[in-house]
Parts: sequence; C-alpha cells; structure tokens
Amino acid sequence: MRGSAFIAGRVAGRCQLTAAEAAAASLAASAVASKAVYHDPTVLRKAPMHHQLVEADITKEWRRAQLEAFPSKYHGYRLAVPESASGDDWFPTPHGITCTDACFAFPEIFRGKDVVELGGGIGNQTILLIHAQARSVTVTEIDDSRHNQNRAMLELNKGLLHNLDGTGSVVTYIVQDWMRFKFRADVIITNPPFCMSGQPRRRHFIDALCHLSRDALTEDGKLVFSQSSMADVEQTLQTLKEYAFDAKIILSADFYWRDYYAKDEKFLEEVDELQQRTGGKAYYTKGGKRVERIYVVEATKKPFEPNLKH
Ligand SMILES: C[S@@+](CC[C@H](N)C(=O)[O-])C[C@H]1O[C@@H](n2cnc3c(N)ncnc32)[C@H](O)[C@@H]1O
Repeated sequence: MRGSAFIAGRVAGRCQLTAAEAAAASLAASAVASKAVYHDPTVLRKAPMHHQLVEADITKEWRRAQLEAFPSKYHGYRLAVPESASGDDWFPTPHGITCTDACFAFPEIFRGKDVVELGGGIGNQTILLIHAQARSVTVTEIDDSRHNQNRAMLELNKGLLHNLDGTGSVVTYIVQDWMRFKFRADVIITNPPFCMSGQPRRRHFIDALCHLSRDALTEDGKLVFSQSSMADVEQTLQTLKEYAFDAKIILSADFYWRDYYAKDEKFLEEVDELQQRTGGKAYYTKGGKRVERIYVVEATKKPFEPNLKH
C-alpha cells in the first residue's frame, strides 16, 4: 500500500503526463486514499488565512479553476491544517504546494538525511520530510510562535505517519534568520520569498541560497527549492553552476497568476522585461489568463578544488 501511494504521487507529479496517464495516476491515488497522505488545496483553505503576504485571492473558486485547468499536478495526498492556524502562520501558496509535492514525489532525496527546512511555515513540507524518513528535520522560522502551528500540524497528521510506520525523524525547531546558516545539512529545502521578498532585488533570497548553501552543505549535499518562471529559472541554473552545483529541475506545475502580481507595477515591468529577454519563458496565457510555472530545483554540491594559493 505504501509503495502504491508513493508511486501514484510520483507519476501524477510530472506535468508532461498525457491525459490518460494523469487519469490513471489519479485513479491509483484514490485507491490508496485511506493510507496515503492527501493534499487537497480546498481542505488546506478550510483554516482561516490572514497573512499579509498571502492575499485572500486563494479562494475556493481559484482552487477549483486550478484543478480544472491543470488537473495532472494534483497528487493523491491531503494534509489537514489545524483550525488554530491563522494570522502570521504561513499557508501554502502555489510555490508552497509545488515544493510540498516535490517532497512527496522524491522521498529518496530526504530519506536517511539530515535536512534543514528554512522557513517551515505551518509544516506542509515538514510532515512530508518525516514521511520521507529523513533522519532529522531542523525547521527554522523567524520567531518561535510560528513554530507552534508546525507542531500542531504534525500532531494533527501524525496518524498518517503512524499508518506508514512512522520514521523516527528527529524534529528540531530553531529561530534563525533565513540566511544565517549556522548549521550543516545533507539537504536544505525551502520555498524562498520572491514577488514580495521585501528586498530591493526580488531575487535576493534565491541568489543568497545559491551563494550561501555550499558551505552549509555536507559533501554531495543538496539544495532543493521552488521558484517561479517569473524569477528566471535559467539564471538560477546558471548561478548554481557557477557555484559548483549540478542543478536540475525535478518538478514543475502551472498556476494562474495570483491577483496581487498584477497590482505591482514594478513587478509587471520586470516580468515583461524577462518575457521579452527570454522569448516568452516568464509566463504564458491560458483562456486569457496569465499562468506562471513553478519549478522545483534540485542542486547537488560538486567537489571543488580552489586553484588559487596565497
Ligand atoms: C514562503 S513561506 C514558506 C512556508 C512553507 N515552507 C511553504 O512552503 O508553504 C516563508 C516562511 O519563512 C518565514 N520567514 C519569513 N522571514 C523569515 C526570516 N527572516 N527568517 C526565517 N524565516 C522567515 C515565514 O514566517 C514563512 O513561514
């Protein structure tokens, strides 16, 4: 049963599935409903969402339109979110959902590893890292209060882990600013802010990850993160190469634009510039609506011999 759940999730996670393959994967996923971890965005939205950075445009209607337009990317897993989650607790966005899908689709990246999750939010990735049998999961957040919903999420969904025999992952919560890497990890996973990064350079967190992860990772360590097509994924792959990583895209999924994108004129200018420069790789339109592609990048640290001696 457990194997089927993973297989169903992995197959359905690839965007290039034919309609028939997607339907088959979806059926396979429903067949294991009682044992698999289910992630249904309409369920996720049951909890109130007031985070100032996550505008209330992720409505039931928005979710339904997503499902109708892009059915194959939805896996057969569902996570319950604590009713107590609200306020500054971070609910999954398209980036968060896709990053979570990657945890579900590629458990082997995390199995037996010491994983650091930067900015854990309500724990949508944390639970799947445990599900993937990470040896340890260290979750960072900006303040301790935000870890509480993550703990509650694990508690609420622990039956799913029990169904899957649990893992023995050691879970540790630490308060640590995003880019202060005071740790060593086999894998760093994160969903970095982009559109509303609060930085003069929107790509600040993506670039900082590329620059800073190397020293925090063990030999052959991996950096896994989600980013939008509007954040220039080619630039990310090139930067990672320059920092001696083997980088590739392991999963992608399409989402209609969030309402707030179109309200930020500077963002629109930047995206249009990228659209022109890349020959239309920033976004596309479907039914008259703009669509972004969220990628999950996996970057593996390569050995590097400094060639300068002082
Ligand atoms: C984009 S959300 C990702 C949440 C979750 N991992 C997901 O993908 O749905 C970013 C998270 O980082 C946290 N965060 C924001 N600023 C931070 C900082 N300076 N240091 C550490 N965490 C921060 C936020 O509270 C939020 O939970």
